[in-house]
Amino acid sequence: MPTAILVHGGAGAIFPDDRAHACARGCLEAARAGHRILAAGGSALDAAVAACVVLEDDPAFNAGTGSVLNADGEVEMDACLMDGSNLRAGAVAAIRGVRNPIEVARLVLERSPHVLLAGSGAERFARAQGVAPWPASLLVTERALTRWQKERDEGWTNKPGTVGAVAVDAQGHVAAATSTGGISSKHPGRVGDSPLPGAGTYADDETGAVSATGQGEAIIRVVLAKFACDQLAAGDHPQAAAEAAVRRLGRVQGEGGLVVVDRQGRIGLAANTARMSRGWVDAEGNEGCAFEG
Ligand code: GLY
Repeated sequence: MPTAILVHGGAGAIFPDDRAHACARGCLEAARAGHRILAAGGSALDAAVAACVVLEDDPAFNAGTGSVLNADGEVEMDACLMDGSNLRAGAVAAIRGVRNPIEVARLVLERSPHVLLAGSGAERFARAQGVAPWPASLLVTERALTRWQKERDEGWTNKPGTVGAVAVDAQGHVAAATSTGGISSKHPGRVGDSPLPGAGTYADDETGAVSATGQGEAIIRVVLAKFACDQLAAGDHPQAAAEAAVRRLGRVQGEGGLVVVDRQGRIGLAANTARMSRGWVDAEGNEGCAFEG
């Protein structure tokens, strides 16, 4: 069966403007990392995680290193991984002190009976699984600090950012991974859509895989990722499903976007923001990246 991977680096404005190209290139690097795994016969789950780790480690994105800061000036991250072959999911919310939240989400999926662990409990679980503590100072970039200081002085901007990857492997299994620092200057403990299966992340071999980006509170209320999968189930092409999901987001005046892949390896994406950086390697082996909406 054809393999494909599509990643996003978040919907919304990209500041400064010349960073947009770097974000698109970063998405392409992430897609290539995932595709190398798919091309070698690896699983969609491994590919989605690998792509997400590249994005988490790239300080250009609001996930892992480069995460925005909450109202207390601290990094709290959310991530989710879902396996379409068995509908198993693992997620962490408001986790601190780890380099790659998506890898902790994977441990929740594979080594715990739970779906979602939050806060200090998620951190304790990560340590118990051998995940090394990662100093907060290494997650905080100059850009995140400047933005936080500006918001403290001038008010909250409510601009989210997220990274994510959807993939289908040669066995026809799909997977979705999403990771984020959430919304800048958010209330400590705030959890967005990304770690919630059905909202920011969903994967089902019977339909496809979806990763969303945008205003978490709006995405949660319309259960965006599951909505897009339901559109696939109704017969939509992934592009039509993504566009329908963005129209649905308009129902709650939400801003954001999503990436979609179905088990045939067809991809689709849509956003109602001016920009959404993304990169892909499609079922024909064509690769590309872009950032315009
Ligand atoms: N979509 C990212 C967030 O709202 O947390």
